[in-house]
Amino acid sequence: MLNKYIKLLKNGEVVAFPTETVYGLGADAWNTEAVKKVFETKGRPADNPLIVHISKPEMVEDFTAEIPDDARKLMKAFWPGALTLIFKKKTKVPDMVTGGLPTVALRWPNHPIAQQLIDLSGPLVAPSANSSGKPSPTRPAHVKEDFGDDFPLVEAGETQIGLESTVLDVSESPFCIYRPGAVGKEEIEALINKPITESKASAGTPKSPGTKYSHYSPKAEVKWLTKQAEKVNSEALLLLHHREAGNSSKNIATYSGNYRQMARELYDRFRQADHENLKQVLIEPFSDEQLQEPTVAALHNRITKAIGS
Ligand code: TXA
Ligand code: MG
Repeated sequence: MLNKYIKLLKNGEVVAFPTETVYGLGADAWNTEAVKKVFETKGRPADNPLIVHISKPEMVEDFTAEIPDDARKLMKAFWPGALTLIFKKKTKVPDMVTGGLPTVALRWPNHPIAQQLIDLSGPLVAPSANSSGKPSPTRPAHVKEDFGDDFPLVEAGETQIGLESTVLDVSESPFCIYRPGAVGKEEIEALINKPITESKASAGTPKSPGTKYSHYSPKAEVKWLTKQAEKVNSEALLLLHHREAGNSSKNIATYSGNYRQMARELYDRFRQADHENLKQVLIEPFSDEQLQEPTVAALHNRITKAIGS
């Protein structure tokens, strides 16, 4: 079933495939022409580097010669999984992949199809399979919406996590989180027994280029839900994680504390709001206590970006 896609990848073509976080837009990481096609397909700025996806620990050594001991611990504990690690790159890693940076991002995805594809076609660069400025795709329909029905796509239903991986820079001390995801700050710190930092996009020049580009927000205005806002707007989509749906609007999603479900659905809800021409997406804010949970921290980060952009 995958033969056709492996052939395409080996021929330097671009193929969308599922991972446990979101769908990725894959191409042979060693083939600069193929990598270039990824940027063109997405309309992505050339200085925004790509994550290289691998399927065995040995592959790491093709890309970096400097793996700190603490990074090894993280690889052992969280790979395969939703953790991207940024290492100093070997010179042979194409600049096109790293956006000219001296570092390279690596991830071993925890999805059988992604793993098979990489096993058989080699390491793949894979940004999220959306056109630049759209939310990451969590369903095959999202990929088709952005790139057309005939685009090469390995379909495997809805992705399990629904938000992109945690991005952690391990090329300098202390390690630094550039993007929060399913693997949380506290579990990383507990494992390496050291504090790590978290980069705020607003603080000076971003070290992770992706953080400087505007993020998707639907045509509808995304806002935190206040009692007032709820009353005012009937043409809004309400996303509630604890509060009960107290009014008659039909556009309400309630998650009853199931943050993982909320994470799986967030990007689909954003796309839906656009399809239905809704005026607002109103989201119940999270408490400091709720924000301790990695999934909630990741949700909060993506929602804040959608509000701010
Ligand atoms: O879950 C994910 O990570 C998904 C799936 C497909 O694996 N991929 C993904 O890729 O979200 P993308 O390209 O949409 O986001 C990668 C982020 C960008 O913000 C990029 O700037 C950052 O990682 N990044 C990649 N390489 C980097 C590097 N060498 N230094 C700093 N940031 C880097
Ligand atoms: Mg992306």
